Amino acid sequence: MYGKHGILFEESYQQKLKTAFYYTDSDPYYGERLFFDNSGGSLRLKAAVNAKAESESLPDCPERSHSAALQLNRLVQDGTREIMSCVFGTEKGALMTELTASQTMFHMVEMVMENIPGTNAVVSVLEHPSSFDAAAYYCAKLGKELRVIPADPSTGAIDPDAAAALVDENTCLLSVMSASNVTGAIMDIPAIVKKARAKKPDLYILSDAVQHAPHQALDTEGLQVDGMNMAPYKFFGVRGCGFAWVSERMAQLPHRKLLAKDRKVFALGTPAPGNFAAMLAVLDYVCGIGAKFAESTDRRSLFRKGMERIHLQERALLHRLLEGTKENPGLRYIPGVSVYADGLPLERRDLIAAIGIAGMDVCDAVKAYEAKGVIVCDRSNRSMYAKRIVEALGLEGAIRVSPLHCHGTEDIDRFLRITAEIAAK
Ligand SMILES: Cc1ncc(COP(=O)(O)O)c(C=O)c1O
Repeated sequence: MYGKHGILFEESYQQKLKTAFYYTDSDPYYGERLFFDNSGGSLRLKAAVNAKAESESLPDCPERSHSAALQLNRLVQDGTREIMSCVFGTEKGALMTELTASQTMFHMVEMVMENIPGTNAVVSVLEHPSSFDAAAYYCAKLGKELRVIPADPSTGAIDPDAAAALVDENTCLLSVMSASNVTGAIMDIPAIVKKARAKKPDLYILSDAVQHAPHQALDTEGLQVDGMNMAPYKFFGVRGCGFAWVSERMAQLPHRKLLAKDRKVFALGTPAPGNFAAMLAVLDYVCGIGAKFAESTDRRSLFRKGMERIHLQERALLHRLLEGTKENPGLRYIPGVSVYADGLPLERRDLIAAIGIAGMDVCDAVKAYEAKGVIVCDRSNRSMYAKRIVEALGLEGAIRVSPLHCHGTEDIDRFLRITAEIAAK
């Protein structure tokens, strides 16, 4: 893709985008602050929060036939179609909804592990507990072997050959995330799929796209995977739901469902139109960015263009974060600061940096940032969510820095100045 170091939005446009989100530069509890923990839950689009509130305010059951009910039902139908087509890049297969992304992953892993013959499952060591533990749980339950792909600490990525080396004709599942929630490394899923299917052509492959989806359009058809999931609250939307897409053949596997419903209907119980309304507002926002840079009336093309420009803006912000300017040296050049797993080129990274400060525990560092008005996250080996992952990268922990595309260069520069102050202490 063009723009090796990314392409910034014009400043006035970036500032306009910022106004579309709640609490960008301050919150009611802290006051003025820089929010660089978007990987833990992104800034919220006002339109998404409002759309959810608006449809929640209607009492009507979406499965009736009067006008308000029909409108709520339309949100579910349109939302399902557009989430599949725009976010997951396909009209085929089916959409699964649960309360969280973790639940969708457990459900997908359960379907494969319980129905596909095989004596082992292969997962990457970098997986979030939702996919790692799901594979471990069903291996233990069904008496299968769990095989764990090691990580490359210099890049924070999974080597496709290392993944394929663990796959054989008895593998029933391969699960590798699309991008790391600790380092931002984008995994080479196309190569992983190709090499793994060379060992077992009909292998079922899942990919957790929770951290990648807010940064780049997903392409389930091109990748030929069987399942991917995402979390709206990390994608400018709302908490309280998780979405996953499953392939045609996955949808046909036996799964928990109401007997009278089609195999492709995963919803159990009354759908929540508000969650679809919020996600439709997110898609409107991304398509709006696309429409500024491309002429099209096709939602999917506008969405892809919008995500491409978001990715280019984020790449330019990541470049500035790492390299800095003459006035504000980047993370790579601030004495006492280490950027972990810094080996991948920018086009293979989402806007997340894992850093350390010499002589400082990562949890203390996060407190020091907070005292100076910056919200970042500690990924320490004392956290059950991070232990396996950071240790696989040869670390005790990392400070995770995750701005968003609506931030500007001044936000990055401010973060760099504060980091230099903390590291100098
Ligand atoms: C990569 C990744 N996968 C899955 C999840 C789980 O998302 P949820 O908490 O919505 O289940 C997270 C959350 O941090 C994540 O970062």
